[in-house]
Amino acid sequence: MSIFSNSKAIAILLISLNVVCNLTTFSLANFNQDVEINWGADHAQIQNGGQFLTLSLDHSSGSGFQSKNEYLFGRFDVQIKLVPGNSAGTVTTFFLSSQGNAHDEIDFEFLGNSSGEPYTLHTNVYCQGKGDKEEQFRLWFDPTKSFHTYSIVWTPQRIIFMVDNIPIREFDNNEAIGIPFPNRQPMRVYSSLWNADDWATQGGRVKTDWTKAPFIASYKNFNANGCVTPSSSKGSSSFSSSCPNSVTLAAWRNQELDPTGRRWLRWVQRKYRIYNYCSDLKRFSSQGRPAECKKRRRLEGLI
Ligand SMILES: *[C@@H]1O[C@H](CO)[C@@H](O)[C@H](O)[C@H]1NC(C)=O
Repeated sequence: MSIFSNSKAIAILLISLNVVCNLTTFSLANFNQDVEINWGADHAQIQNGGQFLTLSLDHSSGSGFQSKNEYLFGRFDVQIKLVPGNSAGTVTTFFLSSQGNAHDEIDFEFLGNSSGEPYTLHTNVYCQGKGDKEEQFRLWFDPTKSFHTYSIVWTPQRIIFMVDNIPIREFDNNEAIGIPFPNRQPMRVYSSLWNADDWATQGGRVKTDWTKAPFIASYKNFNANGCVTPSSSKGSSSFSSSCPNSVTLAAWRNQELDPTGRRWLRWVQRKYRIYNYCSDLKRFSSQGRPAECKKRRRLEGLI
């Protein structure tokens, strides 16, 4: 396969983030091979021999898929074209989650909106069942017009959320100052399209317009480049032997954004971030802001 025929490769050449270079493999994604429909089987379709997948939502059901494998660390990408037109009340998700109580989770959620109004991209990190680490963004493009790549990079040191290979959020491992970090429970990759009109759009004021159903989100190029864990290895934070080479590399484990990546991150955060839990002083007034927020401000030279 010519590297130039791969749009991901072109984006990488342009943006040249270390984190991207070391972790991207050019294996052909195949939904039949990599995922299973776990909800609303008659509302989800894998097409083109596994190259393409659609989730749909109507009054009777939404739908979703999950990866067949569980992973402990890795890079997970998918290209999504979100529900077009009036998507108010709908939520499309792409996330990692472990099983059971006290679960870990790393989330992308796309909150739909009325025609002509922007989607909200909501992100969160849960560790041992506790979230409350939300950041929300606007996108710098219309996510319903064409496919865009959404990626989660999950290493023992940090989590990086990326949109079209541009880092939008970084969540560091701050166990050293007592902040739990998801590094012990293997996670599956999930995606779903569901109705959340009790809260999703403009705080629940705008409801799903069922006359516009079915709502459809389309997917391609799912790529899970991670360390596959047999279920028996739960509770261990060590790498399993089944990591792809690109993930076992010591260098990868310490991946961080290079100066170019940092610049992009600052650009997104300055222009497109619409909510940051760290800045929500009202919310934390009684117990004070989370320790990782104070540390980050120090690092950024803000205090
Ligand atoms: C929808 O559009 C309104 C108006 O532009 C905006 O306030 C809101 O944040 C958007 N997103 C959601 C999910 O409500």
